[in-house]
Parts: sequence; C-alpha cells; structure tokens
Amino acid sequence: MQMLKNDILIRALLRQPVPHTPVWIMRQAGRYLPEYNATRKRAGSFLGLAKNPDFATEVTLQPLARFGLDAAILFSDILTVPDAMGLGLYFAEGEGPKFERPLRDEAAIRALRVPEPRESLGYVIDAVRQIRSALGNSVPLIGFSGSPYTLACYMIEGGGSDDFRTIKSMLYARPDLLHQVLDINARAVIAYLNAQIEAGAQAVMVFDTWGGALSDAAYREFSLEYLRRVIGGLHREWNGEPVPNIVFTKGGGLWLEDIAATGCDAVGLDWTVNIGTARRRIGSRVALQGNLDPAVLFSDRATIRAEAGKVLRNFGSGNGHVFNLGHGISQFTPPEHVGILVDAVHELSRPYH
Ligand code: CP3
Repeated sequence: MQMLKNDILIRALLRQPVPHTPVWIMRQAGRYLPEYNATRKRAGSFLGLAKNPDFATEVTLQPLARFGLDAAILFSDILTVPDAMGLGLYFAEGEGPKFERPLRDEAAIRALRVPEPRESLGYVIDAVRQIRSALGNSVPLIGFSGSPYTLACYMIEGGGSDDFRTIKSMLYARPDLLHQVLDINARAVIAYLNAQIEAGAQAVMVFDTWGGALSDAAYREFSLEYLRRVIGGLHREWNGEPVPNIVFTKGGGLWLEDIAATGCDAVGLDWTVNIGTARRRIGSRVALQGNLDPAVLFSDRATIRAEAGKVLRNFGSGNGHVFNLGHGISQFTPPEHVGILVDAVHELSRPYH
C-alpha cells in the first residue's frame, strides 16, 4: 500500500485517518461521458467493450483523466459470471441485459457449474492486470461482483424485472432449487473475486442490487446468508497488503446491523438512509460508503455543493467514510457536475479530519 501515491480509499475502508474523505462514483465509467460513448462505438457494443481488455482499460481510465477521483473501478459487469456459466448474455437495444438460456427448470439448475475464472472469465482477469499496470500505482483499483441473490434474479428471470415473479415463485414454491443456485453462485463469486484480487484488485465490492426487494425473512435466508459466505471466503490481504471489501444491498437500510455482521469491512448505503444514523448503528464495526442521491447531480453547482456538504455533516468528524452516490450515476448527468462534486467532497471534508 505504501507504493500507492493515493491510498486514502483503502485507509478510509479500514477506518484509518485520512486528510480528506475519498470519493468515487458507482458507474463512473459510463454513458454520461462522451468519450465512453465514442469508445463504445469503436468496440461495437457494451459487451465488445467489456470483453476486450484494451477497451476495458481505456474506459476505466476515462473518468480519472477528467476528475480527481480517489479510486478506479474495473470496467465490466456483474452479469459476466452467469454468462461464463453458459447462460448466453446479450443486450437487446434499449431493453437492458438478457439471457438466451435462463434457468427455467430443475435440469438446468442441476447442470449449473462454478466457472473457473481464469478460463471462462480470463478477459476480466486480463483487464484487471492491464488496468493495474496502466494506473501505475496512482489510485487503487476496485474489483467487483454481483451478490449470489442478485445474480440469481437475472439468471432466473432471464433479464431485468419489475416484480421478480419468476424467482419469487421459486423462492416460495421450491426453496431447495433456489438454494442450489445460490450455493453455486456463492462459490462462483468467491472464486471470481479472489481471482480479481490475485490479478491486482486492491479492494472489492459486492453489489446486492435486488436483495432489498425481499421480505425480511427472505432477505436473511436467500441474500444475507450468501453474502456472509462470500465475505467469509474472500482473501483479506494479498502480497502483504490488506484488501478491504464492501457490501452494498440497495434498499438494505433495515438490515444494516446484519450486513455489518457478515464480517465485511464496509457497508454501502443507498440514499434513503441517513448516514449519521447508520454510523451510530454500525460505524464502530465497519466503514460506510455513500450516500448522495444520484439525482442531486441533475441540479446546479450550489445545490451539489450543499447536498454533498449535508452528507459529510451527517457522517460527522472522524474516520471510516468513503463518499459515493447511493446508486449508479445516471446516463443523463452533465459530466461537469461530477467534477463539481469530487472537488466539493475534497474541500468540504477537510474540517472533519
Ligand atoms: O462502476 C463502474 O464504473 C463499473 C462498471 C459497472 C457496470 N455495471 C458497467 C455497465 C458495474 C459495477 C456494473 C454493475 C451492475 N451491472 C449491476 C450492479 C450495480 C447496480 O447498478 O445496481 C447491475 C444490476 C448490472 C446489470 C446491468 N448491466 C444492467 C441492468 C445494465 C443496463 C443498464 C442501463 O442503464 O441500460 C447493464 C449494462 C451496463 N453495465 C452499462 C454499463 C456502463 C451500460 C451499457 C451501455 O454502454 O449501454
């Protein structure tokens, strides 16, 4: 870690002192950036970008060239894992991700296997290596995966869903089958994240985007339990350096104590939670990441600064805060507003450290 010129993200995740609050943005490399859209055009498609380590490296670095961000995040997608399991990921124009062969019967579920990351996900592992070398120890690289439950949502629904009718029907009618999928997913996520760490990822984040749509009991049984298994299986250091991990359940405000109890280093917060309240609940055990409403970035300089100031004030003085949005940045965000936010966080957070 001493080798990193800017290691404040890692320090904040470990609740160590920092001169100002680190900031990065979920989906910081994406369609709100014209240079991303230009590279995507050259690559032909989103998957063309994600599956080519040269393109993936190029777009990972784009937001860092513009803004004083304190971390890079691997350019990829959570759905590469089910794709590697043979489900056939594709993007229908304007419709989001879909699978050619969703898990629709018991035979398909029984046939599901844990993919060997260095084989079927070799392009991600190569991208991690290439991005690390391109970063040249400037800022840390964050690796990521979907949570076992969130991956299962896409694998069983065959794409996005408003009501999760197919997976929830299975959850109540055939919980044994869903557990079988989640067990495979948990083992796949552990192998995948550890391979990213071995290739150079310096922190890792698990995106549980849809766990928050479950009932309390179902969240505990079908999402939280597998998050706990994943965290328990991850490398906690590599090459003598700590590799902190972050768990983010969108809509997870009701379960913060339980998420912290998975053993993770940091908990991601969406914008519905007051970060000061969250700190009082779990801040003695974990760092907190978040939690500005992404819609604030549609406003103006003064409002962005004021709203960023509120998040910082709510967290208060001391260690253990990584500034981020409460969810991914919208493609309709004016890019210059991200610069205003990043500078505001750095400037306005100094008095708290
Ligand atoms: O943060 C980053 O910059 C890293 C890149 C990243 C992407 N997807 C790139 C992407 C990360 C971390 C993800 C995670 C992801 N992907 C999640 C979990 C996080 C979350 O947002 O809750 C989920 C649920 C997915 C699945 C997925 N991939 C969806 C629903 C979509 C369509 C989104 C849309 O708005 O159309 C994608 C595609 C995707 N993944 C894009 C990007 C930049 C847009 C693709 C494009 O260029 O057309």
